[in-house]
Amino acid sequence: MKIAVCGKGGSGKSTVVALLANEALKKGFQVLVVDSDESNTGLYCLLGFDRLPVPLMELVGGKGSLKRKMGQPGVLQESQIAINDIPEPHLVKRDGLGLVAIGKILQSLEGCACPMGVLSREFLKKLTLKANELAIVDMEAGVEHFGRGVDTSIDSVLIVVEPPLESISVGQKIHDLASGIGIKSIWAVMNKVPSEEIATRLRAELEERHIEVVGCIYFDTDIFSSSLEGKIPPQGVAVRETKDVLDSILLRADIPAPG
Ligand SMILES: Nc1ncnc2c1ncn2[C@@H]1O[C@H](COP(=O)(O)OP(=O)(O)OP(=O)(O)O)[C@@H](O)[C@H]1O
Ligand SMILES: [Mg+2]
Repeated sequence: MKIAVCGKGGSGKSTVVALLANEALKKGFQVLVVDSDESNTGLYCLLGFDRLPVPLMELVGGKGSLKRKMGQPGVLQESQIAINDIPEPHLVKRDGLGLVAIGKILQSLEGCACPMGVLSREFLKKLTLKANELAIVDMEAGVEHFGRGVDTSIDSVLIVVEPPLESISVGQKIHDLASGIGIKSIWAVMNKVPSEEIATRLRAELEERHIEVVGCIYFDTDIFSSSLEGKIPPQGVAVRETKDVLDSILLRADIPAPG
């Protein structure tokens, strides 16, 4: 399964990606996290790595080179890419967990992020996974990645929604765009929810919009305070809630845990 974690800016996408990756590892999956956010750089830290992998953009010669190749049928030579095929500096890994990054905007006036979208789309399309492997993609905030066609290369979308109405509206837009390109597995996870009462109301708002809810991660002060160091706590309430979210996703996608 290639699952894209989407949502409004700041809704908790990267946190949910890291929590889900940790839970999937505990279940015995090999997990590849794909950092498709061209602005933020801290995902490697949340995942417990000490460095960001060299972005795949460098593998194809950088943005300038990719821009020149953009009209061509493919920018990556391989027709299929297995996790183990990703060359060393572009993949950081430990204990069944790998991280790749598509590319980052590093300088002002370096041009738009379209080449990142092209590379994300092609990399994700060519990425081939075994039954015990999961790819979890940390998408950039909002919906522009749909405009760039990145989501045509994934099979499932998890929308992270927090209580503000604006987050629900972006969630709905993501849901509609994803179903518009034929993605069948689209779910929402409620995040940073402060109380059961708000959880009930938020769930009702989502269900009214025909968005299937796979779980709820309440506002967790440990998560929030660990974020000051760029980390997530190894255990706690959010970790337990994420386990339920993952179970629910695997059940719906009919994916058995390995072993
Ligand atoms: N369940 C939670 N409880 C408490 N704080 C949370 C929770 N989920 C996320 N946060 C906090 O919310 C902030 C934003 O989270 P995060 O960076 O994961 O969001 P994001 O959607 O990836 O943001 P961006 O759009 O900038 O990539 C962080 O400080 C994070 O610790
Ligand atoms: Mg993020």
